[in-house]
Formats: sequence, C-alpha cells, structure tokens
Amino acid sequence: METVLSGIRPTGNLHLGNYFGAVTNFVKMQHEFNCFFFIADLHSLTTHPTPQDLHGNVKKVLAEYLAAGIDPEIATLYVQSDVREIAELYLLMNMNAYIGELQRTTTFKEKIRTQPDNVNAGLLTYPVLMAADIIIHKANKVPVGKDQEQNLEMARKFANRFNVLYNIDCFPMPEPFNFGKALVKIPGLDGTGKMGKSDGNGIYLYEEPEAIRKKVMRAVTDTGPTEKNSKLTEPVKNLFAIMDVVSTHDTIKHFKEKYKDCTIRYGDLKKQLAEDIIKFTTPIRERIKEIESDEVYLSKVVKMGAEKAIASASKTLKEVKEIIGIKAF
Ligand code: TRP
Repeated sequence: METVLSGIRPTGNLHLGNYFGAVTNFVKMQHEFNCFFFIADLHSLTTHPTPQDLHGNVKKVLAEYLAAGIDPEIATLYVQSDVREIAELYLLMNMNAYIGELQRTTTFKEKIRTQPDNVNAGLLTYPVLMAADIIIHKANKVPVGKDQEQNLEMARKFANRFNVLYNIDCFPMPEPFNFGKALVKIPGLDGTGKMGKSDGNGIYLYEEPEAIRKKVMRAVTDTGPTEKNSKLTEPVKNLFAIMDVVSTHDTIKHFKEKYKDCTIRYGDLKKQLAEDIIKFTTPIRERIKEIESDEVYLSKVVKMGAEKAIASASKTLKEVKEIIGIKAF
C-alpha cells in the first residue's frame, strides 16, 4: 500500500474552504493509503511563536482535524517534535543540501521580504526539514498546494541525491498527490477568489452561529439581476457555490429560480445560507470543543501517534545511518 504524508502548519483554524478542500480528502484517504498526518510544530518555530501560542495552536489543530474525521486509530496522526528521528535525519540531510539552492527557494526569498528582521537559518533549511519529514516514512505521495510544490521538488532532489551518492535505492521519490476533481474549491465571502483567512472572507468550523450569521449577511453581492434568465454574477455565484455544499437540493433550486425570474432577495438567500452553514458546522464545532477540553483523550491520541510514527521513522533512520557509515562497533 502506498504511503501518503501531509504536514499541517499549526497556525490558524480550519475554515469551510480547508474542510471541503483538503480535509475531507484526508478523511477519505486514510482508508485507501497508509497515511501519516502530522503537525509541523518545529517548522513553525521559524516565526518565533510564544510558548503558549505554540502549544495552544498544536492542540487546536489536533482537535479540529480529529473533529473533522481523521481517525487516529487508522491514520498515524502525530506531532512532529515527538519524533526525534526527524530532527536527526534533518541534520544528516543538511550535509547534502547546498546553500545556493536553498537561497534560491521561492518560499525563502519571500520570507526575506516578509520577515526581514528574522531571517534565521531554520528558514533557509526549511525545505531540508520538510524533506526529512517526508522521506523518514518513505512517503510516495504528498498532497500539497501550489505554494508547497517547490519544497516537494526539493525533497525529491535531496532524496535522489542521497540515493545517487550512496548508490542505493533507499528513498522512493515523493510525488505530489493531486486530488483532481475531488478537490472542491470553496469561494470566500468577499466576492472574489477562494475562501481564505482575510477578514470576513472565511467561515471557520469553530465559529458560533451569531458570528456566522453576521459574516454571511455582510457577504458581497451586487444590485441583483434585472433581466430574466441572466447568468449568475461572480459574487452571487460564490454564495451559490457555498450553498452547493451545505444546503439541500430544494433550497438551491428555489433560489436559482428566484434569480432567474428576478424576484430574488439576497437578504433571504443569505439568511438561508447562514442557517444551512450553521446546521452543517454545529456538530463539528461541538466536537471540537469536546475534544479540546478532553486532555486525557488528546494525550492518548498524541501518544499513540508518536508510537506509530517513531516505529516507522526509527526503521528508516537506522537504515540511513548504516548506509552513511554510522555503525555500531
Ligand atoms: N511546509 C508545509 C506548509 O507550510 C507544512 C509541511 C511541513 C509539510 N512538512 C511537510 C507538508 C511535509 C507536506 C509534507 O504547509
């Protein structure tokens, strides 16, 4: 069975876009592949979070992914820093990563721009740590967004370089996992583009009904159709796209007809949309809260994840060290 691995940055919360995008696919994939999902807390140290933020965010992300349906008994769900083998492999891989290629990485160049006061070595070697994450489990497939494609390409480069240097077929080449048609793109509420983190644009799984209503009521629309059977304009099309994933077929049909004969009132559509979103997210929100307050359960999950991840990682690390020539006497 192929191994799929994905790293999750412990920043921000899951919004509907993440949920219908990657997360539902992760939930499906756990039954089809040998899945490793981990929270990349070491990577996040490059931005110097406070200890409280770091720990709090790891916990939040864990609770949200569990609530969204990742089954820790089926997939291996773990915290990166619990697996020391990753740090050790990272050290070893650093010896075959060249400064020049690291400096040319787009994400690094962007960080120089966005955090000029904190251009630390961890940022430079970020792709090496990411490569270690991936190859320590000999992952075959890595679901990544556009912004991470280059980092994955570097992982392939480092893995291949190791294989060539020691003339051994140790690491498989990790390929990008493309969800293809299964990747549902949820637009945001600001009228253009996809759902993101910018203010008022995204609806989070943890959000309370009142906050959801407010956001949806403020969503961008237009002045409304004036000619019968006119095409949906972008901002309104976006609202219908969200309806598509949370509302019933009848509701969607009702408002589409109203749009067609120009009797639609966007206020009504938004009210309905808000209620349907709330209906959808409420059980998830309750589950997030329940998990977050259950320290015993969380520590059980993390411990189990670490055990499974360490078992896989230590096997690879042992092999790598022997190949390199770090052997016991
Ligand atoms: N760099 C990824 C991001 O910013 C997170 C990540 C860390 C990751 N290690 C990984 C993703 C390994 C895939 C595989 O989103």
